Amino acid sequence: MRHRRFREGEGERRSGSQETGCGDGEASHGDGMAPTLVGVGVGPGDPEHVTLEALRALREADRVFAPSLALDVVGRAESIVREAAPEVQVERLVITMRRDGDSTVYADAAGRIAAALDRGERVAFATLGDPNIYSTFSSLARAVRALCPDAPIETVAGIMAFQALAARAGFVVLEGTETLSLITALDGPGALDGALTDRSRAVAVYKGGRHLPAIAKRLAAAGRLEGAVAGELLGLPGERAGPLDELADAPASYLATVLVPPAGRP
Ligand SMILES: C[S@@+](CC[C@H](N)C(=O)[O-])C[C@H]1O[C@@H](n2cnc3c(N)ncnc32)[C@H](O)[C@@H]1O
Repeated sequence: MRHRRFREGEGERRSGSQETGCGDGEASHGDGMAPTLVGVGVGPGDPEHVTLEALRALREADRVFAPSLALDVVGRAESIVREAAPEVQVERLVITMRRDGDSTVYADAAGRIAAALDRGERVAFATLGDPNIYSTFSSLARAVRALCPDAPIETVAGIMAFQALAARAGFVVLEGTETLSLITALDGPGALDGALTDRSRAVAVYKGGRHLPAIAKRLAAAGRLEGAVAGELLGLPGERAGPLDELADAPASYLATVLVPPAGRP
């Protein structure tokens, strides 16, 4: 069933806490732009990594949301937007990550976005790195689409954490016909094994910060530690970046990335 589209100001008339309306993509909010949800990648941390396109999307939006662990906590994406575009007002959407992929964690956030689309607003959601790579935005967009099947959903590409690390550490990710595996290691270094079987492949490891010492050990055992680099809190206070063997003496934060070069490069 198509949801009825609310006009400006009608949102307040709703009853109940669960907002489930949405825009139909046909009307605009007055400046000719249809109500749309835009996932805006704001890069991994450095405000200089927010692209001109991202800045424009944030400024053009009627409402800018960013994820937060609690209403009184400034999330990473919000802090980047605050630095890059202080004039943009960011509203927090509390999204508490769950390991089991429980989609209900997105229900309230999706409801608020749907309500804004319903009012004819253009909504931006700021997210770390790129919105199409291991991003909260994909799950959130799915939840919004369930409420608003017709609302347009777009993304603005962002600089990814592994790209920022490569630049910071002077690391050439790929040359010639080399290939790359981008993997996550939330549960430990075992996740590396598949990627390491092809020695000509570079590997980027996300979500493995707490296992950094074990990851270094696993790479050393496979003869792949040489040339590997790590970056923690890139572009953010407390940033560390450099050779993995120098940084892997203790677990790092969740915001840590590892890059492993293909074996046998000249
Ligand atoms: C949920 S994923 C987000 C990835 C992001 N969408 C991207 O395009 O890079 C989170 C992982 O990205 C990496 N990451 C994101 N921001 C980072 C930063 N500032 N410094 C180091 N690693 C970061 C870490 O590996 C972290 O565990």
